[in-house]
Amino acid sequence: MNATAEEHRRPYVPGMGHDRLLPLYDTVSRLLGVTSMHRQLVDQAAVRPGQRLLEIGCGTGNLALLVARLHPGAEVTGIDPDPRALARARRKAARRGTPVRWDRGFAQELPYPDAAFDRVLSSLMLHHLDADGRVAALREARRVLRPGGTLHVLDLAGAAAPSRGLVARLAHRRPHLHGTFEERIPALLAEAGFVDPAEVGRRDHLFGPVAYHLAAAPMV
Ligand SMILES: C[S@@+](CC[C@H](N)C(=O)[O-])C[C@H]1O[C@@H](n2cnc3c(N)ncnc32)[C@H](O)[C@@H]1O
Repeated sequence: MNATAEEHRRPYVPGMGHDRLLPLYDTVSRLLGVTSMHRQLVDQAAVRPGQRLLEIGCGTGNLALLVARLHPGAEVTGIDPDPRALARARRKAARRGTPVRWDRGFAQELPYPDAAFDRVLSSLMLHHLDADGRVAALREARRVLRPGGTLHVLDLAGAAAPSRGLVARLAHRRPHLHGTFEERIPALLAEAGFVDPAEVGRRDHLFGPVAYHLAAAPMV
């Protein structure tokens, strides 16, 4: 884990792996086609007016801002531990006049009551967490979802494809990215108490293989 978060209660890996690289995040993300990946995730979430959405690990805010723009009737919140990324997100939202609530915090301990959201989105965040962190984050996502609410995950995927994709190649040199390639997100979703976890999309990308997963919070 990166040591740049000494001032926080938990260490975390920032968006580009290091704070110094954060100013490049939006440009790199655009060049790698992440905007269209975000668009696909938002379409899958089938957001309706009045719904409350949370993005965990919102970083510089691109996905949360996209949801808020496409669904102005929804209430959108983004949370991330990185104050520098959140400052960028806030500036963009203010410039565009897009109302998003930005909170600082960790996916493993969300500062929201039970059943507070209709949708939770996670984009390219889970691979920043270790195995325990992933399950803890998914459990928290389930807790803050209303019964029947849905979680939509986009993340690095694939049966170890280190020869394909920029991120996959970098992963071989960046230990924090390891693990995702072997990880089975549906199994993690089930372990976290979600029902009907399913892979709902997969793209082979310049970025490397990515997969989309959907799961529902139980109706209990
Ligand atoms: C690759 S960026 C993705 C940002 C955004 N979701 C997107 O799709 O552009 C990963 C983000 O996860 C955040 N992150 C790392 N550890 C986290 C944690 N424990 N809880 C929530 N977010 C975390 C990082 O700060 C970073 O902003």
